[in-house]
Amino acid sequence: MIKKGVILAGGTGTRLYPATKITNKHLLPIYNRPMIYYPIETLKRAGIEEVLIICGDEHAGDFTRLLQDGDEFGMHFTYRVQVGSGGIAQALSLAENFACNENIAVILGDNIYEDDFSDIISDFEQGAHIFLKKVHDPERFGVAELDKNKKVINIEEKPLKAKTNYAATGLYLYDKTVFDKIKKCKPSTRGELEITDVSNMYINSSEMTASFCQGEWTDAGTHESFFRASSIARDLILKNEI
Ligand code: G1P
Repeated sequence: MIKKGVILAGGTGTRLYPATKITNKHLLPIYNRPMIYYPIETLKRAGIEEVLIICGDEHAGDFTRLLQDGDEFGMHFTYRVQVGSGGIAQALSLAENFACNENIAVILGDNIYEDDFSDIISDFEQGAHIFLKKVHDPERFGVAELDKNKKVINIEEKPLKAKTNYAATGLYLYDKTVFDKIKKCKPSTRGELEITDVSNMYINSSEMTASFCQGEWTDAGTHESFFRASSIARDLILKNEI
């Protein structure tokens, strides 16, 4: 059972420059609403109402002005600011007090899902769970290696040559041990604490489970994926699926 969600909406959005020159990536519109609305709605569909939003310091005021206390969504939002670009896992470390020893669902602010994850999220008890999706350009993502029983045995972050086509998407269910695991992380070659290293710690201690997204999924961090995200979002909204 998970009652708390964390949305990671930091980063500088360099891959979307110049669209991100004066604002934050997660505030840009995808079809008819700001990008961050989609992960908010994914958490809401899964039954999560208590949400911590972690954003960068430069545009923090814009996030709070846009989303306020979450009333508009029937949810409750609080905020923390990540200073600098220490990576996704470093941003997540700021959620330790919010989690208060409970399980959490962590979602990246630029990930757009069609699926309803309420069953998996309400059944989750301990360890970690990730959501995979077959993609044609795995080298852009964390790539999951699977054994013959479709169990994840490793995740490789942006490999030069991917071993499979299964991307680890930007939704992670973690138990309370996630914060101790982050403390053991070392910066990667790009100088960041990687979420993939955290997930690999769960895999190495046989505490990781995974499922496959059934519906559409994309991130929106590059010009091409941003364009695709708008088209997927439009289809889903017009079909009333999200
Ligand atoms: C991040 C993660 C990567 C994951 C992706 C999903 O990458 O590091 O493992 O597959 O999100 O959107 P980023 O897009 O922040 O470089």
